[in-house]
Amino acid sequence: MFKFVWAEDQNHAIGFEGHLPWHLPADMKFFKETTIDHTLVSGSRTFASYGRPLPRRKNIVLTLNPVEQYPEGVIELHSLDELLDYAKNHKDEEIYVSGGASIFKLLLPYASDLYVTKLDGQFPADTYMPEVDYSQFELVSSREGILDEKNTIPHRFEHYRRK
Ligand SMILES: NC(=O)c1ccc[n+]([C@@H]2O[C@H](COP(=O)([O-])OP(=O)(O)OC[C@H]3O[C@@H](n4cnc5c(N)ncnc54)[C@H](OP(=O)(O)O)[C@@H]3O)[C@@H](O)[C@H]2O)c1
Repeated sequence: MFKFVWAEDQNHAIGFEGHLPWHLPADMKFFKETTIDHTLVSGSRTFASYGRPLPRRKNIVLTLNPVEQYPEGVIELHSLDELLDYAKNHKDEEIYVSGGASIFKLLLPYASDLYVTKLDGQFPADTYMPEVDYSQFELVSSREGILDEKNTIPHRFEHYRRK
C-alpha cells in the first residue's frame, strides 16, 4: 500500500504547465519532512519537474518510454505490475506517491494514507487530482498552516487513513 502526498486548491488543481500552480514554501517543507529517508514514486512528468533526483530519498520513476536515460540510482519502472512487485519485495520501505494526476489515478485503489495540503484559493491549472472517495478514508489529523511573509496562501495539512 502507498502513501499519497500532494497539494490541491479549491478546484482540486495540482499542476500548471509542468509545475505547481502556486508558491508555498511551507508545503514544500512538509513534503520534504514527510518523504525524507523514504521511497518516492513519481510519474515521469512530475519527476522532470524536480529537475534532479530528490536527495535522501529512493527515487522511483514510472515511465513507458524505454529510451529516456535517468540519473544513476533512479529506479525506472514501467507498469503498475512492476511497481506492485517492487512494493511486495520491499515491505520494509515506506513508499510515498508524489503524483502527478495519472499516477494518483493509477494507484488510488492501493492508497493506504492520504497526506493532502488544501489551499484556500483558486489558481490557473491544467492538471487536477482525480476524484477521491473520502468515504473510504477517515481523517486522522488536520492542522492549519501558519501564514507569514513567505507563506501567504491559507492552507491546512490533512492526513487520512483508509478505513
Ligand atoms: N500539487 C501537487 O501536489 C502535485 C504533485 C505531483 C505533480 N504535480 C503537477 O502535476 C503535473 C504532472 O502531472 P501529470 O499527470 O501530467 O504527469 P505525471 O503523472 O507526473 O507523469 C505522467 C507520465 O507517467 C508515466 N506513466 C503514466 N502511467 C504509467 C503507467 N501505467 N506505467 C508506466 N508509466 C506511466 C508516463 O511517462 P512517459 O511519458 O515517460 O512514458 C506519463 O507520461 C505537473 O504540473 C506537476 O507539477 C502536482
